[in-house]
Amino acid sequence: MTPKKITVMKNDKATTKKPVQKAASKTEKPAVVKTAPTPLVSENEFLMQSLRGMRDILPDEQPYWERVRRSLSAAAQDFGFQRIDVPTVEFLHLFVRSIKEGTDIIDKEIYAFQTRGGDRVALRPEFTAGVVRAYIQHGMSALPKPIRLFSTGPVFRYDRPQEGRYRELWQGNFDVFGESDPILDAQVIQMAYRVIHELGLRNIEFQVNSIGTPESRKRYEKALVRFLESQKHKLCQSCRERLVTNPMRILDCKEDKCVQLTSQAPQALDFLDDESRAHFKSLLEYLDELDLPYTINPRLVRGLDYYTRTVFEIWSSDREGKKYALGGGGRYDNLIQELGGEPTPAIGFGLGLDRIVLEMKRTQVRPHEFPKPRVFLAQLGDLAKKKSLRLFSDLEKHGVLVTESFGRGSLKAQMRVAARHGVEVTIILGQKEAIDGTAIVKDMVSGTQETVTQEKLVDAVKKILKTNASLSHPAPKFE
Ligand code: HAM
Repeated sequence: MTPKKITVMKNDKATTKKPVQKAASKTEKPAVVKTAPTPLVSENEFLMQSLRGMRDILPDEQPYWERVRRSLSAAAQDFGFQRIDVPTVEFLHLFVRSIKEGTDIIDKEIYAFQTRGGDRVALRPEFTAGVVRAYIQHGMSALPKPIRLFSTGPVFRYDRPQEGRYRELWQGNFDVFGESDPILDAQVIQMAYRVIHELGLRNIEFQVNSIGTPESRKRYEKALVRFLESQKHKLCQSCRERLVTNPMRILDCKEDKCVQLTSQAPQALDFLDDESRAHFKSLLEYLDELDLPYTINPRLVRGLDYYTRTVFEIWSSDREGKKYALGGGGRYDNLIQELGGEPTPAIGFGLGLDRIVLEMKRTQVRPHEFPKPRVFLAQLGDLAKKKSLRLFSDLEKHGVLVTESFGRGSLKAQMRVAARHGVEVTIILGQKEAIDGTAIVKDMVSGTQETVTQEKLVDAVKKILKTNASLSHPAPKFE
């Protein structure tokens, strides 16, 4: 099946400057890829900056990301999730069949293109479709259930960039296959809660809802359309179109007039079939049992169309009351079968890591602290320089973090670097020490120094570090 209404990636204005467009000369050769549109930005400009909505995560920001990565891995391990990495690029068809046309992700945001071999492919806009594809492809249904899989990495959505909304965004994604009991829904929400809580984020709202089975959803959709049709003129233009293509999406619209109108619309919860109602009731009881605070949001429908029954989202709000979805997920009991696998219930959620990092910064959560080198290794002369590489690795093997400036010849220059690092110990290896098999160890805190044999160097350095730690520094770990 060839999808009909797909936006193919277009070039974008990546600069604030006016795009430079050279007039094509008559003798110019045709582009290698015939369908490529004329670039809007000259090569010199776009070589020097990242694409709009895509950014570098610089070393300064990494301590926040490291804390997030560590929390994700720890939660994955504690809740029995195994890591799976799926490709960044898949057949376009996979995403269209999973997320479905009529959603913003497929209609407007997917980065789709044709490969040189003629395949229609897309950059993943989320993980679940790829993870389900891998589950089916590798016959994972034969494994003992439930199967818990964790992924993390960048996903791509051609959204309108602004703070907290990017075109390349990072997600942490958790999916569980093979269990339909609502206790799993509660456990998955508990896990999301645990990650958010452990990251030090507070004032976070967990919203839950149930959208039932495809059948009860159809009945609800009918009632919703009947209600909205009668007041169509009050909807924004996009929602008037959605009324025909995907009416449930109207509940997701952020336009004031649509929010106002849909607040009086019929609610999905009133149209649930008996089983879905019982499922939702049990979920709420489990959440109460866990003392997990939640809000029932009857308008919550999610932006992807594979969900059945439970859906949930995690929201933060800033001082101005602006709200951000930090994550979301739900059940998708039919997706695996729809993609050609055995009928297998499933549930999962994705966390938006860029937004989590923004929220950590905004609420002044402490980032991860990478250990800093406490020792500097200085060398003087050719022989000392040669020997210092070995000494460096001896110290590093014994868990002592060392830094150096091997490229600098002068001792003065090296000592300046040592001072900038604020190290507690400087080791000096001169020509004489290199020949003698010794090294000078200088305690930068007390100002004392001693000469030790190179065999005893590690012990001498550790001793000073231990004494310093007991005086004022946090205890280092040197096992
Ligand atoms: P989603 O709600 O589309 O769910 O995305 C999860 C999270 O990714 C959002 O709550 C938000 O924090 C973040 N996010 C989405 N778009 C952007 C953007 N343009 N810029 C920054 N952050 C963004 C899913 O993707 C589902 N696959 C989750 C799931 C897993 N459901 C079942 N299993």
